[in-house]
Amino acid sequence: MMIRLKETESTNTYLKQLLSRQAVEEWTVVVTDSQTAGRGQRGNNWEAEPGKNLTFSLVLYPRHIPPSRQFCLSQMIALGVTDALQKFGSGFSVKWPNDIYWNDQKIAGILIENEIIGSTFESAVAGIGLNVNQEIFRSPAPNPVSLKQITGIEIDLSALLTDIVECIRKRYYEGNTEALHRNYLQMLFRKEGMYPYRDRNGLFYASLSGIGEEGHLILETENHEIRKYAFKEISYILK
Ligand code: BTN
Repeated sequence: MMIRLKETESTNTYLKQLLSRQAVEEWTVVVTDSQTAGRGQRGNNWEAEPGKNLTFSLVLYPRHIPPSRQFCLSQMIALGVTDALQKFGSGFSVKWPNDIYWNDQKIAGILIENEIIGSTFESAVAGIGLNVNQEIFRSPAPNPVSLKQITGIEIDLSALLTDIVECIRKRYYEGNTEALHRNYLQMLFRKEGMYPYRDRNGLFYASLSGIGEEGHLILETENHEIRKYAFKEISYILK
């Protein structure tokens, strides 16, 4: 089912409220032309020019995924989005944990809100904000880019939405978590080479060594020291 809204606060919030009131079919998508309070990760806002971009959320009931493996879902969503984007060209990657980049610029953000009750992964609302036809970015977001800026063409939003959902569906039902993880590692932003990072002790250079089972970022410093980080404990220095 597809719920199309002219305007809403946030498609994630809308879908979560709907879930709390009634039964909602899995794969229900809520899409809007305009969010008045779009939410990002780390408590940030998500800004998008009305009518020019994709801002949508979908609901999943990943009861087959143990909560300790919830990062699998993050990988499925991120790879689903990049699978769809790669049809437009190369240069796309996943910046851990689930930002989508084109070269050094951010093209999409993902906000997954999980509901875990006891040891069951009850539901997940996966919200995706993808810059599509926007050409001027005024928000303080550091390095945005849109598909139109990359390809030079105006893109049909609803066809792209259908394709992204289809690509996520394929990843979701693939069932091979090892292949999923391998594909995720192959798609990672800055997967090779030394780059600057900042943790609570300051700036340092490291290379990417892997991603832990629970989704931690594993880095190897210049002195070959292995460091493991949860989201929010580490920042990439972009330039
Ligand atoms: C981020 O990069 O910080 C995540 C951004 C996620 C934005 C999308 S837009 C659709 C959905 N509704 C929201 O309020 N946020 C997500």
